[in-house]
Amino acid sequence: MATHKLFLLPGDGIGPEVMAEVEKVAAFLTESGQARFEIEKGLVGGCAYDAHGQAISDADMARAQAADAVILAAVGGPKWDDVPYEVRPEAGLLRLRKDMALFANLRPAICYPALASSSSLKPEVIEGLDILIVRELTGGVYFGEPKQIIDLGNGQKRGIDTQVYDTFEIERIARVAFELARQRGNRVTSSEKRNVMKSGVLWNQTVTALHKRDYADVKLDHMLADALGMQLVRWPKQFDVIVTDNLFGDMLSDVAAMLTGSLGMLPSASLGETDVKTGTRKALYEPVHGSAPDIAGKGIANPIAMIASLAMALRYSFHKPDLAARIEAAISAVLDQGMRTADIAAKGEATVSTSAMGDAIVAEIRKAG
Ligand code: NAD
Ligand code: IPM
Ligand code: MN
Repeated sequence: MATHKLFLLPGDGIGPEVMAEVEKVAAFLTESGQARFEIEKGLVGGCAYDAHGQAISDADMARAQAADAVILAAVGGPKWDDVPYEVRPEAGLLRLRKDMALFANLRPAICYPALASSSSLKPEVIEGLDILIVRELTGGVYFGEPKQIIDLGNGQKRGIDTQVYDTFEIERIARVAFELARQRGNRVTSSEKRNVMKSGVLWNQTVTALHKRDYADVKLDHMLADALGMQLVRWPKQFDVIVTDNLFGDMLSDVAAMLTGSLGMLPSASLGETDVKTGTRKALYEPVHGSAPDIAGKGIANPIAMIASLAMALRYSFHKPDLAARIEAAISAVLDQGMRTADIAAKGEATVSTSAMGDAIVAEIRKAG
């Protein structure tokens, strides 16, 4: 059996708490012979800054590049509010994405049946929800130059960020969206703001041309990003795959996460191009949520997004879709049994700790195995 080299980056806040639960799952899969993992750990974010003044060290960056998959929990927190911008915790995550060329960020939002009433929306609006946001991750306003604050000399300053997209960047992310759509509902909604942004015009034209050329069998429509935000909370089930830029994808995926009941439920995969020689690709898996400073250290964070991120690694990096599905079924089963961390509990409902939730998921995987 192949050995999968995982590089774990627990990070800050609730990061180490939810990562401990992934380690339990990985250890169980290894012990029970269902997969074999070799695990290394490193530092990213505020903890890396505290240790060596950088949001990720060159040594840890090299270990991330050498791993079969990086599993990251979360970075950031108020402790590092005043550190220089270049070494703020989030810079570690952005460097991983950029240096590993992880341009395709897949953010599925699925409503587990037992949680249909945990959403702030009516159950009938989200029951059976299964959408996939495909977010461009290495371009756009996150990385465009110039990016600076300049002193105008008259007591005024100017903050500048630049939204830039080249055709090849739009094409390769749209291709990922069309390919994934073919494996599910066969529909893609492409989103930008072509009514105010030149990059939006190019985005729209490029996606339309690629569709006509290579993916005419997939149903494509276009929706302005503000309208899409509105439609996501009005009737989210109208969507199958949504493809959008870095910033709109960031915002829309937080909205989509909340449809499912909690940010603590949503995993993500960040993928690079497949190497034609080896058939492998660089990949990083992480929950959509952040370091949740408000609940850090209390042992009450929801580990489901983190554990579901390991399931995504099994599906997208290790070609073990059955094992991924077994983990997802275990998550669904513990929710059916009424296990709830505080973020997904209804008022007055009993809650369990992070670690009890992780144990219950391992127990379910054991039953199925
Ligand atoms: P957040 O996602 O950390 O928290 C938002 C809200 O959701 C909080 O009330 C939090 O308690 C709750 N929440 C999040 N994850 C949860 C979980 N697993 N279980 C239960 N509740 C959960 O967002 P924020 O507060 O805006 O950001 C905090 C820090 O995290 C910032 O420094 C931000 O930059 C960083 N951040 C990091 C990542 C990442 O590492 N990928 C993602 C988003 C935000
Ligand atoms: C996310 C986060 C990051 C982003 C931050 C922490 C840099 O919000 O992964 O969604 O904006 O991409
Ligand atoms: Mn975000």
